[in-house]
Amino acid sequence: IAGKPVGSGHARIPLLGFGTAVFPFTASETMKESILHAIKLGYRHIDAAAIYNSEPPVGEAIAEALGLGLIKSRAELFITSKLWCTDAHPDLVLPALRRTLKNLGLEYLDLYLIHFPVSLKPGSCEVPFEEKDLLPLDFKSVWEAMEECQSLGLSKLIGVSNFSCKKLQDLLVTAKISPAVNQVEMNPLWQQKKLREFCNGKGIHVTAYSPLGGRGTLWGTNRVLDCKVLQEIAQAKGKTVAQICLRWALEQDVSILVKSFNKERIEENLEILDWKLSPEESQKIDDIEQQRGFLAPMFVSEHGPYKSLEDFWDGEL
Ligand code: A2P
Repeated sequence: IAGKPVGSGHARIPLLGFGTAVFPFTASETMKESILHAIKLGYRHIDAAAIYNSEPPVGEAIAEALGLGLIKSRAELFITSKLWCTDAHPDLVLPALRRTLKNLGLEYLDLYLIHFPVSLKPGSCEVPFEEKDLLPLDFKSVWEAMEECQSLGLSKLIGVSNFSCKKLQDLLVTAKISPAVNQVEMNPLWQQKKLREFCNGKGIHVTAYSPLGGRGTLWGTNRVLDCKVLQEIAQAKGKTVAQICLRWALEQDVSILVKSFNKERIEENLEILDWKLSPEESQKIDDIEQQRGFLAPMFVSEHGPYKSLEDFWDGEL
């Protein structure tokens, strides 16, 4: 699957990637088998995170894919992982990335992301966590540590996830290396127009997570797959609602992470490259009422750095 340019060098990020956030966050044989099947079908971007516990199965799937000859070298894949909040402290970033690489059995990541714009008291990487452990993120120093990860060649690119325009702007003030990517929730019910415009202006690539509404995660619901407008378009076009969502995202010039543990649906989600939405269909999707799905209330506390959801998302709700 051809990719989009990302970062300031020659790197490209595949248009369609495979997500691994499934709650509760436990590694499973099904996950490994699904990733392997996805690689077999042509997925080349795999998105993991320390908190998902998905790094070991991703690593096993990569090793098997190489062993089976599904790919010739590791370089054919684009592997992302994320720094969990308990490690979002300047001196803990590099050790966390080294652990991540060990879990994956890899020498480098293609992309390492700050998972959320918040820190947690250092300790075990797990959810739920306690409100009293929420701490402000030292954007400048943690980003410097991320920059060091890139300088050392341990990750080709660095970026962030779940950052608002304002938080990106704050980061850019002191960043020597601009974040290559902001990975955020994006689907027809939360289109992220303002954030995408901001990111486009700054040369920050947007990757869409939960393009189908993220069912199976902590926050996921059926509201995207159940959306009437999308169902009508899908029916008239002889496509599934999932395909309409994915094709729409693709047409917004972002890359996508979709997740399925079902072989037919893993394949169905790939079949979005040889057709288009009509201008009328795009307009109908454009007009859908907007509401963020993943509010992340666990990061809001009167004792923590963000007192309200407004604070956490800087009004982008
Ligand atoms: P399943 O693993 O049973 O296929 P998201 O990518 O937005 O996080 O959404 C993931 C959820 O959507 C999973 O529950 C997944 O379930 C489901 N899903 C993935 N692909 C499809 C599809 N083509 N049609 C319907 N549901 C899908």
